[in-house]
Amino acid sequence: MSDNSIAIETFSLTKKYGSLAAVNNLNLKIKSGEIFGFLGPNGAGKTTTIKLMTGLLKPTAGTVKITGNDIQEDPLGAKKNFGLIPEEPLIYEKLTGIEFLRFMGNIFTVDRKEIEEKIKELLKVFDLTGRGDELIQSYSHGMKQKMAIAGALIHSPKVLFFDEPTVGLDPRSARVIKDIMKFRARSGVCIFMSTHILEIAERICDRVGIINKGELIAVGNMDELRKVSKEKEGNLEEIFLQLTGEEEDIDIIKSLT
Ligand SMILES: Nc1ncnc2c1ncn2[C@@H]1O[C@H](COP(=O)(O)OP(=O)(O)OP(=O)(O)O)[C@@H](O)[C@H]1O
Ligand SMILES: [Mg+2]
Repeated sequence: MSDNSIAIETFSLTKKYGSLAAVNNLNLKIKSGEIFGFLGPNGAGKTTTIKLMTGLLKPTAGTVKITGNDIQEDPLGAKKNFGLIPEEPLIYEKLTGIEFLRFMGNIFTVDRKEIEEKIKELLKVFDLTGRGDELIQSYSHGMKQKMAIAGALIHSPKVLFFDEPTVGLDPRSARVIKDIMKFRARSGVCIFMSTHILEIAERICDRVGIINKGELIAVGNMDELRKVSKEKEGNLEEIFLQLTGEEEDIDIIKSLT
């Protein structure tokens, strides 16, 4: 029986590069309306997981379902229900901001009138009103990032994937993104976000998963994570460092200075 409240589900998801398991036997179930933070050291497998979940990579083994649709067997069914803001957004430099948003709206067959309304709203939200007629190539890094996010929101997806959403954004824009996540989650959207900023994860995520060397080593809310960590009173940073074994690295750094 399918469960409508499950937005993302992975079954023994695995991606190997030669002998390296970038993601190994990942089993996750994430609900509609949930903000899920995906944490892990550099090279742990976060981006690979997001690429597998969104069909940009083919798994070596295992499956992914987005809103019940298998990403390999029914890619269109799955893709119309999610938006992705990748680690390095590939947006069309030779289009203006507004042309890009129209293009994204058309891909997702959003009604023409609705597209124009959404464009106005999104430019305003991201403080880009008045800049929509300029070529994307003339935008700053943060402006491109905001445009990529706006493009992923135009079809009002049920699931949103963010790979490092706040990198390079000014404090106000980072705040806008966090507010968008909270607001969308409240209306039932599932947010899957990878981040290195543990304060953000601790503050806005309902649950967090920690991946290390391709293995999911912990998953749960803060109380549940404290239970599996030695840091019974700790914050997410302390729990993360303890679980990923980087405390020893800190001791080494201290011994060098
Ligand atoms: N195309 C590829 N070929 C070979 N190895 C790869 C490839 N893509 C990723 N990997 C390896 O898979 C592992 C996981 O990489 P991934 O990009 O998923 O890490 P990440 O958790 O997103 O790291 P970061 O925090 O640095 O973004 C790394 O060891 C990486 O070198
Ligand atoms: Mg990454």
